[in-house]
Amino acid sequence: MDNIAEVKKKKELRQLPDQIIEKALQKSNNNIKDARAYLRKYFGLFLTNKIIKGKIGDEEILKVHISSKKRDYEKFYEEIFENIKKPKSIIDLGAGVNGFSYKYLEKVVGTTKYIAIEASGQLVSQMNKFFKENKLNAKAFCEDITNIQSLKKIISKTEEPRTIFLFQVIDALESFEKNLSKEFIEEISHLAKTFVITLPLESIGKRKQFNVQRKWLIDFLEEKFTIQKDFKLFGERILVCDTKKIK
Ligand SMILES: C[S@@+](CC[C@H](N)C(=O)[O-])C[C@H]1O[C@@H](n2cnc3c(N)ncnc32)[C@H](O)[C@@H]1O
Repeated sequence: MDNIAEVKKKKELRQLPDQIIEKALQKSNNNIKDARAYLRKYFGLFLTNKIIKGKIGDEEILKVHISSKKRDYEKFYEEIFENIKKPKSIIDLGAGVNGFSYKYLEKVVGTTKYIAIEASGQLVSQMNKFFKENKLNAKAFCEDITNIQSLKKIISKTEEPRTIFLFQVIDALESFEKNLSKEFIEEISHLAKTFVITLPLESIGKRKQFNVQRKWLIDFLEEKFTIQKDFKLFGERILVCDTKKIK
């Protein structure tokens, strides 16, 4: 059996794109145990058994996912969209279960096309089921977001102006490769008018405050783009950026 199939024997990792499993195997010199530990940390830790098995209500799901459970989504989106033009399309990269917050998003920005791109196949299936049942203008795709060509293909079909969400995904990008997030942000900045980055103020498990360590990211954003709003809410630092540099 090949190593990818071996890694996928664990149900929480089964529906990840092969490209991501391959990267994990490369990072761990083909050690299956280490590759699985890495994947759980960045892609599987957020999945509780209830989520994997789909045994959870639509409202409840936002309350059990580790990244979304602290958020009051209406306030969260109100603050994010306070000073920026309402987009026609929103692309949520590494979306987790955010698709389940669509009604709060709609309340704040009005009808909008919502696209979620997420590595975890279980989350993608559940979001698509929810979108279909509620007839929402939304769709989720199971992709590695660092696959820029696929990303461009999906995004180019959506109407402008666009806003891209990058909520709590910088750590996963940096875990692939140091400084990958800078390159990545440069690439996606050509695809949208605005983008929103959130950073957890505490690392998972540890109570260490690590916002100070993000100086490299803030310096980069300040140099290349315009930070419209920078604030803290529900344990996250939130940066709303305009892709144009306003001098
Ligand atoms: C910490 S969670 C944040 C989820 C969501 N953005 C939120 O803030 O509620 C990170 C999510 O990004 C996804 N992710 C990380 N790297 C990814 C990649 N390269 N491609 C697709 N999804 C990715 C993980 O599977 C996970 O669901």
